[in-house]
Amino acid sequence: MGDNRPWLAFFETTQRGTTSRYVLPMQIDWVRFDRDRYNPKAFAAVRQGAREGTLLDVATDEIFISLLLHNLRSSVTVDEVEGSRLEFRPTKKLLDKPQHELENIRAVETEQSNSTALVDNDYVVKIYRKLQPGINPEIEVGHFLTEIAGFANSPALYGSIELIEGDTRSAIAIVHAFVQNQGDAWTVSSGYLDRFVEKERLITADDHHEMIEDQVAYLRYMTQTGMRVAEMQMALASRDDIAEFKPEATAASDIRLWTDEIVSRAEPVFSLLAQRRNSAREQDRGLIDAVLALRNDLRNTLAELLPEDIDGLKIRHHGDFHLGQMLIVKDDIFIIDFEGEPRRPIEDRRRKAPAARDVAGLIRSIDYSATAALERAEKIAPDENGKLATALTGWRDRAIDAFVEAYRETMTDKRLWPADAKAADDMLKFFLIEKAFYEIEYELAHRPDWLRVPLAGLLRILNGEPQESV
Ligand SMILES: Nc1ncnc2c1ncn2[C@@H]1O[C@H](COP(=O)(O)OP(=O)(O)O)[C@@H](O)[C@H]1O
Ligand SMILES: [Mg+2]
Repeated sequence: MGDNRPWLAFFETTQRGTTSRYVLPMQIDWVRFDRDRYNPKAFAAVRQGAREGTLLDVATDEIFISLLLHNLRSSVTVDEVEGSRLEFRPTKKLLDKPQHELENIRAVETEQSNSTALVDNDYVVKIYRKLQPGINPEIEVGHFLTEIAGFANSPALYGSIELIEGDTRSAIAIVHAFVQNQGDAWTVSSGYLDRFVEKERLITADDHHEMIEDQVAYLRYMTQTGMRVAEMQMALASRDDIAEFKPEATAASDIRLWTDEIVSRAEPVFSLLAQRRNSAREQDRGLIDAVLALRNDLRNTLAELLPEDIDGLKIRHHGDFHLGQMLIVKDDIFIIDFEGEPRRPIEDRRRKAPAARDVAGLIRSIDYSATAALERAEKIAPDENGKLATALTGWRDRAIDAFVEAYRETMTDKRLWPADAKAADDMLKFFLIEKAFYEIEYELAHRPDWLRVPLAGLLRILNGEPQESV
């Protein structure tokens, strides 16, 4: 460790008996720590003899990023303490790429524990601040999709950095090719939806034509998404000779496991809902009651949707697929962030599952995007709620239809998506239910005001018409 070079600090925290490990790139700036000037990257004051300095988080700083990229290109292995080492593994795509001085680095603000830096129009460097032992699915799937299967709608993998301790590896960072984009699909959808709401409010016969144009443009993205998701899944299922990716027949034991997981996730959710019922918002109570009424029958419902003797394949998949995991690139979409659901253990995230799981993820996300728009509209035009809710429901259904229709058309592998419409629909419902419970759990813990979105979603899934034309 030089006294003015960046280094990686590893530390452990224990909370309620669970120990987590984190890694943080740090550097000392030999300038006195100034408490009065807020610097989000400054941690602490440091002193060495008479010298005073500031300890900085440099995850998205130029010196650190260029050192990281340099080490990656050179396939460096750094020996750390006690036999552990840092392994920089570049892909051929990085080595083939001409090198430039780094000019412009932008930090991406994300909700996750990761830090992401966009470097010129060349690289995206993501630091996983939380260390998780195991093979990181984003590295594994990125390598498979872009190096082996040749899937073109995900950013090329440029390399990874892992901490190796004995037989265990933990991902520290991943580098991808930068893809010029108009924003992630959640942000772009929100823009479309807000314009749609504005126009709905001001609507006259003349405007109607333009409004439809706007929707048509959006629906084209959804069609593109359906096509790309199906292609991604067929790419993920394309290699029988690579054990981690080989599609496998879904066994009765898999279905029992998935069902048990949903039921055991749902139980505490039901209990919490029952507890919160009386203090919930008036308009949520009916929904809570209706969801609670499903409690006793949940296992049977799931068993009907996904019988144990179903045949079909389970495959590696995205695992945390939603609008925020797609970039809008000209008139196409790119799929990013194959880390899986961050709250699940790494081994669970690497498990195979039916293709319907990712399809369900996106459908739920479209529902969320429409409700989020209604929520924003409510603040501006509270008295137009009924009219806007109807318009947004229509928007949501058309978006889901466009996505699912294009998906079905492109998905030609009947082992991944049942030819029988009812079987396909039931399987999709099974995973929509899984997702909805995950969302309810999340909203109960973090955003009680949003609770009604997954509650209403769950009821629609269970009572509704076929999902494919919700
Ligand atoms: N290859 C890429 N090209 C351009 N921007 C990207 C790329 N990958 C990620 N980003 C930007 O970083 C954001 C977060 O990326 P993501 O991988 O989803 O990180 P997180 O794991 O923190 O969710 C994206 O929404 C996008 O704005
Ligand atoms: Mg993400």
